[in-house]
Amino acid sequence: MRQDDPIYAHRSPGGGTIWYITRFEDVTAVLKDTDHFVKDVRNTLPPDAQKPRKTSLNRLINENMLFADPPDHTRLRALVNQAFTPRRVEQLVERVQHITDELLAAIAPAAEADLIASFALPMPVRIIAELLGIPPADQAQVADWSQAIISPGSRNLNYSARKRKVRAFVAYLQEMFALRQQKPQDDLISALVQAEEAGERLNEAELSSMVALLLVTGHETTVNLLGNGALALLNHPDQLTILRERPELWETAVEELLRFDGPVETSTTRWVREDFEFMGQQMRRGDVVRVVLASANRDASQFAHPDVLDVTCPDNRHLAFGMGIHYCLGAPLARLEGKIGLKTLFNTFPSLRLAMPADQLAWRSGVLFRGLKQLPVRIQ
Ligand code: HEM
Repeated sequence: MRQDDPIYAHRSPGGGTIWYITRFEDVTAVLKDTDHFVKDVRNTLPPDAQKPRKTSLNRLINENMLFADPPDHTRLRALVNQAFTPRRVEQLVERVQHITDELLAAIAPAAEADLIASFALPMPVRIIAELLGIPPADQAQVADWSQAIISPGSRNLNYSARKRKVRAFVAYLQEMFALRQQKPQDDLISALVQAEEAGERLNEAELSSMVALLLVTGHETTVNLLGNGALALLNHPDQLTILRERPELWETAVEELLRFDGPVETSTTRWVREDFEFMGQQMRRGDVVRVVLASANRDASQFAHPDVLDVTCPDNRHLAFGMGIHYCLGAPLARLEGKIGLKTLFNTFPSLRLAMPADQLAWRSGVLFRGLKQLPVRIQ
């Protein structure tokens, strides 16, 4: 597609069009153009149209900045920026290392392990839960609720079962907000409850949706940086050798792993605000636009050797975290988790290798995330 049809129109049977954008230059153009491409579908409606009301599930999933446009996005992001500070991330170095060590120690006695289930998933999930301030005793329950909300299909949940879980989750969060309001702790939920910008605060629906967004990103993204990153290095032992000789390169290595096989394959949906021409193609109000980050990150017009993994590569301007106003809020945390997690994994298990041929590994379906279902490895 990138070569032959870089702005590809998929006409869906229902009549709508989904545009897939695959070239680096066009992807950056879409991500920067918030006038023509919007995240809140209601902003594609003519100004005098009545805006549909959101259900409680919709509100929980998308009453947050990832699905908002300016000025709402600007306000929400400014409020969360106050709570999610670089200092808060820096303070996590020791916890990320500790949790990594603990998870790896648990699998050390085994001959084989699935790195996704035993390490790549639980590490970021525990970190985001701790960061938010969810008590350890509640973390399994919260993980169950958020899984039900994010991927009901994989758990065969019908609509009413899902609705019950959403209600229980929102009730839990409301109680948590009230507790933190009365007695703030040194955690992200307390900081979000207290955040104030130009006299504005997050309302309760926005708070719940923000926490749900952070939990989702905690569950679905860094797991793939650790999984895809470990696989890429196992498939490129020459690059691992370089990292063993020059450990100071782990930071550039993480950037290269994000570019080479990043966790997010396409960005979240954007909508065309009104009819207009983009790069010679006539787009219509309400069309869906998906930018394919994974393709842009392999575009030869931007990267000299796009299909070669080179952990020494400096100045790596990849798009794995997106670009523009929706650039990933969690990028500093994800980078920290990726660096500590992968470095410690390969230092702890120097003879780590795949337990099955790489071409037989199963990948998760769907176009949003790029991640393995399992990553079976031999440890000893
Ligand atoms: C390696 C791991 C991660 C990757 C590759 C990643 C990637 C991305 C991308 C591509 C976007 C932009 C989506 C778009 O424009 O449609 C994004 C947004 C976002 N990410 Fe991440 N993410 C990662 C980890 C995290 C973590 C750990 C957190 C939370 C702590 C997080 C929180 C967010 C938030 C809140 C947004 C929305 C920002 C906005 O709309 O202004 N991400 N991420």
